[in-house]
Amino acid sequence: MTVDRYWCLCLPSIYNHLSVLVNSYRKVGWLMWCYQLLCLQLVLLHSLSFANLCSHEQSSALLQFKQHFSLSNSSSTTCDFVGIPSYPKMKYWKEDIDCCSWDGVTCDRVTGQVIGLDLSCSWLYGSIPSNSSLFLLSCQKLNLAFNDFFPSQIPSDFVRFQSLTHLNLTFSIFSGQVLIQISHLPNLISLALGDLQPWPRGLTLETLVMKGIIQNLTKLEELILDGVNMSPLAPGHLTNLTSSLMLLSLGNCGLQGSFPENIFHLPNLHTLKLQGNQYLKCNFSKVDGSSSLRYLDVSYTSFSEKLPNTIGNLKHLSHLDMEKCNFIGPVPMSIGNLTQLSYLDLSDNNLSGHIPSSLSNLEQLIRFVKQ
Ligand SMILES: *[C@@H]1O[C@H](CO)[C@@H](O)[C@H](O)[C@H]1NC(C)=O
Ligand SMILES: *[C@@H]1O[C@H](CO)[C@@H](O)[C@H](O)[C@H]1NC(C)=O
Ligand SMILES: *[C@@H]1O[C@H](CO)[C@@H](O)[C@H](O)[C@H]1NC(C)=O
Ligand SMILES: *[C@@H]1O[C@H](CO)[C@@H](O)[C@H](O)[C@H]1NC(C)=O
Ligand SMILES: *[C@@H]1O[C@H](CO)[C@@H](O)[C@H](O)[C@H]1NC(C)=O
Ligand SMILES: *[C@@H]1O[C@H](CO)[C@@H](O)[C@H](O)[C@H]1NC(C)=O
Ligand SMILES: *[C@@H]1O[C@H](CO)[C@@H](O)[C@H](O)[C@H]1NC(C)=O
Ligand SMILES: *[C@@H]1O[C@H](CO)[C@@H](O)[C@H](O)[C@H]1NC(C)=O
Repeated sequence: MTVDRYWCLCLPSIYNHLSVLVNSYRKVGWLMWCYQLLCLQLVLLHSLSFANLCSHEQSSALLQFKQHFSLSNSSSTTCDFVGIPSYPKMKYWKEDIDCCSWDGVTCDRVTGQVIGLDLSCSWLYGSIPSNSSLFLLSCQKLNLAFNDFFPSQIPSDFVRFQSLTHLNLTFSIFSGQVLIQISHLPNLISLALGDLQPWPRGLTLETLVMKGIIQNLTKLEELILDGVNMSPLAPGHLTNLTSSLMLLSLGNCGLQGSFPENIFHLPNLHTLKLQGNQYLKCNFSKVDGSSSLRYLDVSYTSFSEKLPNTIGNLKHLSHLDMEKCNFIGPVPMSIGNLTQLSYLDLSDNNLSGHIPSSLSNLEQLIRFVKQ
């Protein structure tokens, strides 16, 4: 701003100098007009970009939020395991810099409102109080993954983020019950609460909350609950999950009983992960060609029966992991119908008989593990 203002202010004096220097040239008047036009344009541009600036309320809300936490590298060690760099993003938040340019902050280009906050892997250690200034923002995307909020619960005030579409609390060590308020965010497209903390750290999700999620969150495309304790929930309750779902990840949730078969036929579902639910039974006997699944992981679950021929109907599969599922008997011929398969793991089952010759149809197969 200052530079342009300087130019505008000093233009008359430049004009004077020019007039003296090239007095006899009438062109100077025309030149002046051009300069003024340029000047006007610069001022206009700046007033436009000023509208993008973060308001004082927002920047102080963010700075107050920052004060809830101490920054500790041990809060984000899991990031290093999964290969995401971790560093204290908030450390460099400074009052005199436009908050829309702070690391992790996204603003709406027109209104200047903070609409996204990505503080994943940011060393946060502490808890979010219910009157936190965080809830003054109108976030659409919130990512607090890979921090340490133990022993706090997911605050019920999250319900104030009515425009929230993406909530990512993966590996953020929240504990206790997932509150019903999570199901009062009707615009959620992606919900990730996965964690792998041993009890009593970690989250529990009760039947009532799952019912709320199923009834209210009808726009969900991704539901990731790996490691969340869902043992109180009968898997049958998952039957009416929304048809918009593309990815469902329920690894190590302690699910027990029969997994509803209709989930395989959700029209948009391409990824289903059920691994590590030791007492969960899946029945493939009714799967037909309507399934869109490309990725299926049922390793470390319970079947205790023969692998049905119908497995060959999951014709879009490229990844099939059936390690240690207690399958018995022969591998069905129809496995050769899964022509897109690039990964097949059948190890650690009680399979018998020959490897079917149809496996040679699987031209994409890169990795095959058996016994
Ligand atoms: C974390 O911080 C401690 C103390 O500040 C330091 O000794 C340690 O090397 C750091 N660890 C990593 C992974 O940066
Ligand atoms: C929240 O409440 C605590 C204690 O009740 C108070 O000290 C703090 O200033 C409040 N914070 C905000 C942002 O209102
Ligand atoms: C959640 O955030 C982490 C860290 O940024 C990222 O790796 C992961 O893909 C995110 N999950 C979802 C569902 O967006
Ligand atoms: C669905 O959300 C509304 C508010 O958005 C809430 O009043 C209602 O109780 C929710 N339904 C369930 C089953 O949780
Ligand atoms: C699923 O929806 C159908 C039809 O609305 C209903 O009859 C059934 O009880 C629901 N199942 C569950 C487990 O909620
Ligand atoms: C799977 O479903 C078929 C047909 O519905 C049934 O005959 C079979 O017993 C079921 N298997 C298990 C383990 O429930
Ligand atoms: C699937 O495989 C079986 C056995 O190899 C075969 O008889 C059947 O025609 C195949 N179905 C399709 C749709 O390719
Ligand atoms: C595996 O199969 C053999 C023979 O069919 C049987 O004796 C054994 O008990 C089975 N093991 C398991 C773990 O099911």
